[in-house]
Amino acid sequence: DHAIAYDKDLSGVRVLVTAGPTQESLDPVRYLTNHSSGKMGYAIARAAAWRGAEVTLVSGPTALKKPAYVDTVDVVTVREMFGAVTSRAGEQDVIIKAAAVADYRPAQVADGKIKKGAGEGLTLELRRTDDILAYLGEHKRPGQILCGFSMETENLVENSRKKLIRKNLDIVAANSLKEEGAGFGVSTNVLTLITREDETQLPLLTKEEAAHRLLDRIAELRGERA
Ligand code: CTP
Ligand code: CA
Repeated sequence: DHAIAYDKDLSGVRVLVTAGPTQESLDPVRYLTNHSSGKMGYAIARAAAWRGAEVTLVSGPTALKKPAYVDTVDVVTVREMFGAVTSRAGEQDVIIKAAAVADYRPAQVADGKIKKGAGEGLTLELRRTDDILAYLGEHKRPGQILCGFSMETENLVENSRKKLIRKNLDIVAANSLKEEGAGFGVSTNVLTLITREDETQLPLLTKEEAAHRLLDRIAELRGERA
């Protein structure tokens, strides 16, 4: 354990982290999901716990080991994540939404396995899911810090800054899929930390190092707002 090596600078701070993908069923055997491994969110949860925070991790389905000293809540669908996060949001000092949440779910879930038809194609009808982070932004407590993640293939800073404003966030960790060593499955990341005041591009870091840099900036923001 690395506990000795870190300052307990988040001692007693209540931090909720979401991680991993969501899954939305199409029928009893199939679902819609994405490539999120959950590694970034788990690294943040572990790093916050090492620094003394009281951490809740709301996790979509991942292959990762549950972090020690973290209260982990498993969810599958966007609806379940929405419930798990919003029911705990009021008591949190910091909420970090690293999960890759589906924007759409199938309009209906078939009771039986969808069989191949005679035709060449199949059209799926999808419905928008609820935006968890937008809801948190609307119901933000005074002093609470809300951190979103943003995944973009172009106009990273501009599009991420729009999300910061639209969802009433304090900070966005923006992920460029174009950078070498960034994105899905890998253990490294290239993040740009965007606040209302400024933006900082972090170098290529392990997800653990990136997690600590993000928490450093969040601790600073808490200081500035206090
Ligand atoms: N998010 C959420 N609930 C959703 C969709 C996204 O809480 N239904 C959160 C994600 O966890 C992330 C942030 O919103 O922290 C940004 O997600 P992203 O997919 O980058 O942006 P969107 O606002 O969904 O816009 P788009 O996918 O169109 O870029
Ligand atoms: Ca999205």
